[in-house]
Amino acid sequence: SAAKLGLHKGCWLPVVLFPDDQLLDDIWDFSLRTDDIIVCSFPKSGTTWLQEIVYLIMNDLDVQKAQSANIEARFPYIEYVYPGLKDLSKLKGQRLMKSHLPYHHLPHEVMEGKSKVLYIARNPKDVAVSYYHFAKMFRESSYTGTMENFSDSFLSGQVPYGPWVIHVQEFYEMAKLKRNVMFIMYEDLKEDPEKVIKQIAKFLGKDLTPEQVSGIAKYCTFENMKKNPAANYSWWDEYGLRNKDSTPFLRKGHVGDWKNHLSPRLSKEFDLHLQQWFSANGSLSFREL
Ligand code: PPS
Repeated sequence: SAAKLGLHKGCWLPVVLFPDDQLLDDIWDFSLRTDDIIVCSFPKSGTTWLQEIVYLIMNDLDVQKAQSANIEARFPYIEYVYPGLKDLSKLKGQRLMKSHLPYHHLPHEVMEGKSKVLYIARNPKDVAVSYYHFAKMFRESSYTGTMENFSDSFLSGQVPYGPWVIHVQEFYEMAKLKRNVMFIMYEDLKEDPEKVIKQIAKFLGKDLTPEQVSGIAKYCTFENMKKNPAANYSWWDEYGLRNKDSTPFLRKGHVGDWKNHLSPRLSKEFDLHLQQWFSANGSLSFREL
């Protein structure tokens, strides 16, 4: 019941999107503009949340504009733009784009410092739990396995965009080296949204008043975004993209929900796997996962 995946330079990608390397080559060659902004993440790490924050910052908190179309239309998803990247090339004005691709599959001009990239990372156990619910909810995958089955796939790296460890470590290292890459943690954003929103605005070259910062934080709480028809993915129901009676896209928005879904044994497996990876490949010194 799992999505069919193919390995492309160390990253497992859905065969429906990437039947061969053509789209990846086109993305690699895709021309960027200096004012492009790309929000990147491993799936289910808080992408939508960060997108809405970036949208408000770059549109001077124009809430009416933020309500005028859904986040997928306002903030296109690079690898889902169909029939190619032509639509993105035609966009006038500043482009805000989303991608789940690992750093080494992004348009190569990113590496030359063109565009700004914001990456959001989240505790991998919470990512796996969120991803599991998503995989069951999403019509195209309609996952029928258990949390344990899904965790096995997650830890072996064989989920779309996996392995998580390579994805997150590569962006973490690049953010240290490149001025155009910012690394954000979901848990930090949750703990002190105003502090992180200020840092994001600074990275984007915007000076916000304290009122604007708190306005964005309030507009983007989980509760408010869940009610917001331009951000909560309720339009997926109209397109038949969500299985009936499944969990909504904005499911819970908690830190540590994995404790309700992973058995102690499974949680230990995550710990061992991550320890092994990071002791072999250099440790991540960011906030304890
Ligand atoms: S996707 O499909 O990869 O773009 O999904 P993504 O947006 O990265 O991840 C979805 C999870 O993020 C939670 N979410 C939020 N948490 C806190 N605050 C806000 N505003 C918010 N918006 C989305 C969403 O609920 C999913 O996590 P879980 O744990 O499943 O609730």
